[in-house]
Amino acid sequence: MDFITLNNAVTIPQLGLGVFQTPEGEQTENAVRWALANGYRHIDTAKVYGNEDSVGKAIAESDVDRKDIFLTTKLWNEDIRQHRAKEAFEESLARLGTDYVDLYLIHWPADGWQDAWQAMVDLYHEGRIRAIGVSNFQIHHLEELAGISDVVPAANQIESSPDFPNDDVIDYCKKHGITVEAWSPLGGTGGGLLKNPALAEIGAKYGKSAAQVVIRWHLQRGVVVIPKSVHENRIRQNIDVFDFTLTDEDMAAVEAAGSGVRNGANPDTFDF
Ligand code: A2P
Repeated sequence: MDFITLNNAVTIPQLGLGVFQTPEGEQTENAVRWALANGYRHIDTAKVYGNEDSVGKAIAESDVDRKDIFLTTKLWNEDIRQHRAKEAFEESLARLGTDYVDLYLIHWPADGWQDAWQAMVDLYHEGRIRAIGVSNFQIHHLEELAGISDVVPAANQIESSPDFPNDDVIDYCKKHGITVEAWSPLGGTGGGLLKNPALAEIGAKYGKSAAQVVIRWHLQRGVVVIPKSVHENRIRQNIDVFDFTLTDEDMAAVEAAGSGVRNGANPDTFDF
């Protein structure tokens, strides 16, 4: 496993399990259990995914120490709008069955995110959260944030994949010490990207699948990547990516295999 050091010296495993669209209950519990058993030490959830309980249960039942797991959750839009960031944080902790999270993110730049950020800074200074960050922030949101706070977000979790690399936001974040995390890293649930034969062709050179090639592409771009799967064989496959290196030509070919369009919502037009 490779690690990235965040701007406050906290380290994050560069690969984690995402549980977006993994239903609460057995499916999420199994996914987290399989991930931990196969070497994952980073789980990315959110209040709105509705599965914090199941994530917490699987962590509690595993034989991995809580302190050895990097756990991320996110503050939902409704709680931002209602100015109840601190309450929402406590509720997430209770569901997760833990007394801290490693990374807490503003899920989307919903109205009131500026107040939410101040509340998160307080929680961070109280030692309740090891690092705070944002998600789906465009450059203009990050510039506004820099104008109102001395705390630079540790991370910005954004859509990024060969379909929609999002390089302008990534370049801005790199310049300002903000670690980028890629959501929908495999192109999301549509599955179109992974069917592109160009990816399988690259993978064949290394004995790897299309998904492993795309995950490797992210790692070599220096971003954190959180592929989602509910299948044990895929969960295992998705972490088996630290024994090969894509060439510059491969990297360009992976990007060329993408559709060029977003798979998820545009933060500037998303109806919060
Ligand atoms: P499933 O959960 O049924 O395995 P993203 O992380 O970009 O949101 O994409 C995840 C999608 O890709 C999910 O639909 C997931 O389906 C699928 N997926 C995850 N890992 C693999 C893999 N190694 N091979 C093929 N499909 C995968």
